[in-house]
Amino acid sequence: MSLNELKKYINSKRRDFADKPLNEQETSNNPFDQYAVWFQEALAAEILDPYAACVSTVNQNGQPSSRMVYIRDIIDQGFVFYTNYNSSKGLDIEVNKNGSFNIFWGELERQIRINGEIEKVSPKVSDAYFNSRPRASQLGAWASSQSNVLKSREELTHKLNEITKQFEGKKVPRPMHWGGYRLVPNLIEFWQGRPSRLHDRIVYTKINDKWERSRLSP
Ligand SMILES: Cc1cc2nc3c(=O)[nH]c(=O)nc-3n(C[C@H](O)[C@H](O)[C@H](O)COP(=O)(O)O)c2cc1C
Repeated sequence: MSLNELKKYINSKRRDFADKPLNEQETSNNPFDQYAVWFQEALAAEILDPYAACVSTVNQNGQPSSRMVYIRDIIDQGFVFYTNYNSSKGLDIEVNKNGSFNIFWGELERQIRINGEIEKVSPKVSDAYFNSRPRASQLGAWASSQSNVLKSREELTHKLNEITKQFEGKKVPRPMHWGGYRLVPNLIEFWQGRPSRLHDRIVYTKINDKWERSRLSP
């Protein structure tokens, strides 16, 4: 496909959304319960990796970056993901704790937006998750200086071979530079596509430690 054909295609393609309303009365009082209700429906709809979310962070110059991660846990009202603390996202979070998730479940015509502050989970929590990972992933965490430039693929393979030898016959400990972050939300929005772009948006905002619910214009 040429770039011109592509431009013509994306400019003309239209698809209306089905008519499955999201009503205030049907949503839970607590957004985490609502997330669980929708998650169950995502499983039933066989969504690929329903725990995948796009996480956005902002660097010291105010430049946002977005990338996918897996939400692996919910601890003390916070969504947990694991990564390299020295990665680009790790460095962003060090200077700016504000972050957001976006989850899109196309088959259900649903989007969930989550805004909040990001903090590290305890070393104990990170250890427990690291220890539960397959050995190959544990070795990978040591081998990869995530977000740094590699001269070639061979450089990574070479590093992995070295690390594999180093830990032969031994338990692989969690590297200090690898662990979990918890995004503690102050806003969670549930978006349901509706016909003619008149979508439903139910947003939960945390005010004085209580969740308040409102409807936003699409
Ligand atoms: C579906 C999916 C899930 C991912 N999950 C993770 C994850 O849980 N942790 C992680 O560090 N990277 C994950 N990645 C890779 C990240 O998107 C990203 O490439 C990496 O974390 C480096 O990002 P950064 O350089 O902005 O820090 C995932 C990628 C995809 C496509």
